Amino acid sequence: MDFSKQKILVTGALGMLAADVVPLLKARGAELVLTDIREGEREGTAVVPLDITKQAEVTACVSSERPDIIVNCAAYTRVDDAETDFATAFAVNADSVANLARAARQNQVKVVHVSSDYVFGGDDPEGTRSEEYREDEVHAPCGLYGFSKHYGDELLCGILPEAHLIVRTSWLHGIAGPNFIDTMLRVGKERDMLRVVNDQFGSPTWSGWLAEVICSLLENDAVGVFHASATGTISWFDLAVEIFAQASYQTKVEPQTTEELGRPAPRPAYSSLSKDKLKEMLGDVCIDWKESVAAHLRAKGVV
Ligand SMILES: NC(=O)c1ccc[n+]([C@@H]2O[C@H](COP(=O)([O-])OP(=O)(O)OC[C@H]3O[C@@H](n4cnc5c(N)ncnc54)[C@H](OP(=O)(O)O)[C@@H]3O)[C@@H](O)[C@H]2O)c1
Repeated sequence: MDFSKQKILVTGALGMLAADVVPLLKARGAELVLTDIREGEREGTAVVPLDITKQAEVTACVSSERPDIIVNCAAYTRVDDAETDFATAFAVNADSVANLARAARQNQVKVVHVSSDYVFGGDDPEGTRSEEYREDEVHAPCGLYGFSKHYGDELLCGILPEAHLIVRTSWLHGIAGPNFIDTMLRVGKERDMLRVVNDQFGSPTWSGWLAEVICSLLENDAVGVFHASATGTISWFDLAVEIFAQASYQTKVEPQTTEELGRPAPRPAYSSLSKDKLKEMLGDVCIDWKESVAAHLRAKGVV
C-alpha cells in the first residue's frame, strides 16, 4: 500500500499514541483528517471535533470525508475509573468501535484499531501462567476496562471481518500522555524511596515504536489481529528499577503486592503478548523492553 494515495481519518488525534502515529502518516505522504472529542491541533493540522459515541456524527463524517482508512486512536483509558464509570467506558471502547465499523462498511473503508493486553488474565488471578498470549486465544478480561476493550475487538471483527486490523499492545508509554515512566520520573524526583508492584508481569511498549509497527502493518496490507509490545516479561517493579538506573536517579525501589496497592480495578497478573505473528509479517522489528525505556528517556531529553 502506498500512503501517498491514501486518505486517512484518525480518531483520538489528541491522545498519546496519536502523537506518534500522526507525524509518521504525514511523513509517508498520507492525506489526513484528524478528529477527537475536543478540537485542537496536531502537527500543524487542525483536529476537528468528532464524538465517536454518536453513530450519526460518525456516519456523516465518514460519508463526507470518504477516507480509505480509519485509524482509531480514541479510547477510554482510565482503567480504575472504568469500574464505576463503565457506561462511558463501554460507549467509547465498545459501542463506538461498532459505530466506526458500520460507517466503514457502508463506505468500503478499512479500520485500524488498538486493543489491550487487559482482554487477558481474568482466568489466571494467581499469575501462574508463563506462556505469552497468542492472537487467537480466548479472551478472559479481569476488569471492566478489559471487558470494554474485548467487546470493541469482537464488534469490529464481526462487522468488518475482511477489513479490520487490530493491533493489541500493553503498558503503552509515550511522551504525549500520562504513563508509568513519566510518573516514575516525576515521583522519583520528589521521594528517596518508592514502593512498586512486583506481582504483575507484562511488557512495556514505546509508543513511537508502536506507531512504526502500525504503519508497517498498513503498508503490508495486514488484516486481522497482531500483538505488538517490547520483548521481555517484567514486573512494574523491574521497570521502575530500570527507569531510575537509566535516568541516573538514586531513588530506591521496594517491591509491593497488588493487594497492598489496593487499586479499584483488577489487573492481569501476567499479560505478556507473543510477537511471533508480527515477526512473521514484518521480520525482526521488535525492540527489547530496556530499549523501550531508553527510547522514551531519549525522546524526553533525560539521557
Ligand atoms: N495506555 C496504555 O497503557 C494502553 C495499553 C494497552 C492498550 N492501549 C490502547 O491504546 C490506544 C491508545 O491509547 P492512548 O493511551 O494513546 O489513549 P489516550 O491518550 O487516552 O487518547 C485517547 C484519545 O481519545 C479521546 N476520546 C475519548 N473519548 C472520545 C470520544 N467519545 N470520541 C472521540 N475521541 C475520544 C481522548 O480524549 P480525552 O483525553 O478528552 O478523553 C483522547 O484524546 C487505546 O485504544 C488504548 O486502549 C493503551
